[in-house]
Amino acid sequence: MKIVVLNGSPRPKGNTAALVAAFQEGAESKGHQVSVLQVGTMKIGGCKGCEYCHTKGNGACIQKDDMAEVYPALAEAEMLVLASPVYYFGLTGQLQSVVSRFYAVMSPAAKKWALLLTSGSPNVYGAIEAQYRGILNFIQAEDLGVFAYDGKKVGTEEAFAEVRAFGASL
Ligand SMILES: Cc1cc2nc3c(=O)[nH]c(=O)nc-3n(C[C@H](O)[C@H](O)[C@H](O)COP(=O)(O)O)c2cc1C
Repeated sequence: MKIVVLNGSPRPKGNTAALVAAFQEGAESKGHQVSVLQVGTMKIGGCKGCEYCHTKGNGACIQKDDMAEVYPALAEAEMLVLASPVYYFGLTGQLQSVVSRFYAVMSPAAKKWALLLTSGSPNVYGAIEAQYRGILNFIQAEDLGVFAYDGKKVGTEEAFAEVRAFGASL
């Protein structure tokens, strides 16, 4: 299966990237094709609400930025993984901008989704999970797993083993 991971962390060698790498290792061990897009370091603006995509644009966004790399990946993905550090109880602004730009296509093709989160503190995932489940409900997609690690577990072999096993279970 074609799996696309959107890593919203602006730190390409950070905690979230390490978790994503473990997931990728597990999924690739079972023959899945995994593309990781480091959207946290790309130049991607938030949706401007101009409605060009739903009028003259016919599904294309008017903004010319690094979403040009993300849209084709979204169109092909059978599974989409959102990966993010918690930033003030939400996704990073970078990943939130990407999610706002889903509006142009309305419904990303992938019908299987997962969420990988890292944070400093425990119990800070409520808003992100609510958004995630709201999206899945809206586009009629299936949640395959939510994995969230706070400062006590982040970066541990236990965490890596869990997401590696998740990837290998797909
Ligand atoms: C701007 C900013 C906001 C953060 N907000 C929270 C937060 O609300 N709750 C929390 O538990 N950790 C918070 N953290 C900690 C990060 O979520 C945590 O260190 C994460 O593992 C960093 O991931 P990364 O290494 O992939 O960037 C914040 C960190 C930063 C830099």
